[in-house]
Amino acid sequence: MRPADLIRFKQTGRSITMLTAWDSLSAAWVEAAGADAVLVGDSLAMVALGHATTLPVTLEQMLLHTQAVERGFQSLPSAQPLLISDLPFLSYQCGEDLAVQAAGKLLKESSAAAVKLEGSEPEVVSVINRLVRMGIPVMGHLGLTPQAVHRMGYRRQAEDPVSQERLLSKALELEQAGCFSLVLEHVPADLAGKVRRQLTIPVIGIGAGDDCDGQVRVTADLLGLTAQQPPFSPALLPGRELFEQALRNWVSQQSSAPPTTEEPPPEPGC
Ligand code: KIV
Repeated sequence: MRPADLIRFKQTGRSITMLTAWDSLSAAWVEAAGADAVLVGDSLAMVALGHATTLPVTLEQMLLHTQAVERGFQSLPSAQPLLISDLPFLSYQCGEDLAVQAAGKLLKESSAAAVKLEGSEPEVVSVINRLVRMGIPVMGHLGLTPQAVHRMGYRRQAEDPVSQERLLSKALELEQAGCFSLVLEHVPADLAGKVRRQLTIPVIGIGAGDDCDGQVRVTADLLGLTAQQPPFSPALLPGRELFEQALRNWVSQQSSAPPTTEEPPPEPGC
């Protein structure tokens, strides 16, 4: 799968699915599920590394996890989902050259074929433009942008008409800068539909209603593995409880089973 395939899916009205993965195990699950794209999201800072926000994860850690995800894919490269890696906080905010180096490293040292980054400030738009010109496909991310948690929190974005107009024009700006798709997180559904209809690139929603060109979810949320479930991403199963119960059963079986004494191996020649 390539970035251009997602644009083609939008043109033909085929809905796009994207799931996150953070290691080889989760990569095998989401590939087997048939996701079109797999995002090594910086949410792995919280899902896999135990941080309270996405901010602490480093570029080196993103690369390590992207390489682990790549090793988890089971099918031939041509049949694999599109692999996208998140550019972590401060890897693209400190100048275009550093951003090219960071994104280039992810594409050079893993099989990621695109990067995702958050926001639409003028500096970010310039970075997107530069990355795209250098041959690095970029997925944008607007609405709730977790790297800006200290400015905007985790609340729903673009609730009033002025901020909705602003988001729409920012989305158009990202398309013009060369993004091949756009994640819209935690915004009103009618706004997401409006953005989707104005853009030629696919709009992939999370907490943005059904009127999107596709949907993305954090796999650990869907599987009910995360301690704090976002309100817009309900779990499909109580994964955490199921895992804990299975392990509790095993531990209590082991601790109540008497030790077995093994027969010594027969003497040679007897
Ligand atoms: O980091 C992540 O998992 C994401 C998704 C919420 C889209 O950016």
